[in-house]
Amino acid sequence: MPFLSATLDRVKPSPTIAVTGLVAELRAAGRDIISLGAGEPDFPTPKNIREAAKRAIDDGKTTYTVVDGIAELKEAVVAKFARDNALEYSTAEITVGTGGKQVLYNALMATLNPGDEVIIPAPYWVSYPDMVRLAGGEAVIVEGSIANGFRIKPDQLEAAITPKTKWLIFNSPSNPTGAGYHEAQIKALTDVLARHPHVWVLTDDMYEHIAFPGFEFCTPAQVAPFLKDRTLTLNGVSKAYAMTGWRIGYAGGPAHLIAAIRKIQSQSTSNPCTISQWAAVEALNGPQDFISDNVEVFRRRRDLVVQGLNNAEGIDCQTPEGAFYVYPSIAGCIGKTSSSGALIDNDEAFSKALLEETGVAVVFGAAFGLSPAFRVSYATSDELLAMACDRIRSFCAGLS
Ligand SMILES: Cc1ncc(COP(=O)(O)O)c(C=O)c1O
Repeated sequence: MPFLSATLDRVKPSPTIAVTGLVAELRAAGRDIISLGAGEPDFPTPKNIREAAKRAIDDGKTTYTVVDGIAELKEAVVAKFARDNALEYSTAEITVGTGGKQVLYNALMATLNPGDEVIIPAPYWVSYPDMVRLAGGEAVIVEGSIANGFRIKPDQLEAAITPKTKWLIFNSPSNPTGAGYHEAQIKALTDVLARHPHVWVLTDDMYEHIAFPGFEFCTPAQVAPFLKDRTLTLNGVSKAYAMTGWRIGYAGGPAHLIAAIRKIQSQSTSNPCTISQWAAVEALNGPQDFISDNVEVFRRRRDLVVQGLNNAEGIDCQTPEGAFYVYPSIAGCIGKTSSSGALIDNDEAFSKALLEETGVAVVFGAAFGLSPAFRVSYATSDELLAMACDRIRSFCAGLS
């Protein structure tokens, strides 16, 4: 009898975390590496939020709390949904977990039975398909083509729905492409869902606040209020407030789903870190103006990277609406050989040769379900980004 669970056969380790590990190894070996792999802002957590955490410690707010979040944080989340998304939730319709990642995992664990299908537009955040499989479901991948700005079309959604479909996972602006769906594009998808009342929407709005001029963020339950009773609106403080390590995510949804999520969480981690919860209360209720300053920094870097990459031979990089990623196509590089003799027959080979020959770390597109491409996270300094683009340009110029 094998010791390890068969569940492990259904999932792959996270490729983005693998890149982070490889970068650490190469740096330890003395290599000069520019990492464009990490999915986190390079800004510090704002001071008022750090101070709130220190106060929580000094005030002895260091014990267990109710499983899915203190009342103060749930109230702050209710106010946030009303303020930013015109969504009215009660505190019984709010759950808080250890990062958006845990809330997503709990929601899938709480709802999927063997054989249930979950529609996932590609390119997708790496964790979606594996989490679905861990929970016993089937991931149904629908490709958002480059030609359509990495968005799926309503007829593709319609064709993917079967009687077994339980969820559509929706993510705008997206990790890994930065692509955002405009209101009319969301409406076209929700019109399809109107005809399929058994399909729920799990909308991952993690990059809501990192939206560039010309793009106005909206979320499905806001665009199509009839969907609110079958939508889980997921968000968190990691990206907008530079709080990735604090591990606080939250969601709003029907009370019976929130209760099911609470039950799963009560038998795994219990409450998210108490101190982080108090920090998140301050993040959501405190000043919000620094967000637009950060977004302006990201916009400048986006433009720098898009231009830098489009100057590289064989690379075609679209300009995204939000987040801090670009997802350039490398169709023009496939089949070539690098100056040190590596055959670039797919995007994994491209990323490997790029790292070995130039010290620039990116994540290959196959990890996100759309090839040949790679993901760049531009949450790093302008200087490093300019240097990385130069190295990528000379790598591409050396392909023959
Ligand atoms: C699309 C998306 N959703 C969810 C998460 C999870 O965020 P966290 O668990 O830090 O709240 C991430 C983090 O990279 C993400 O990119």
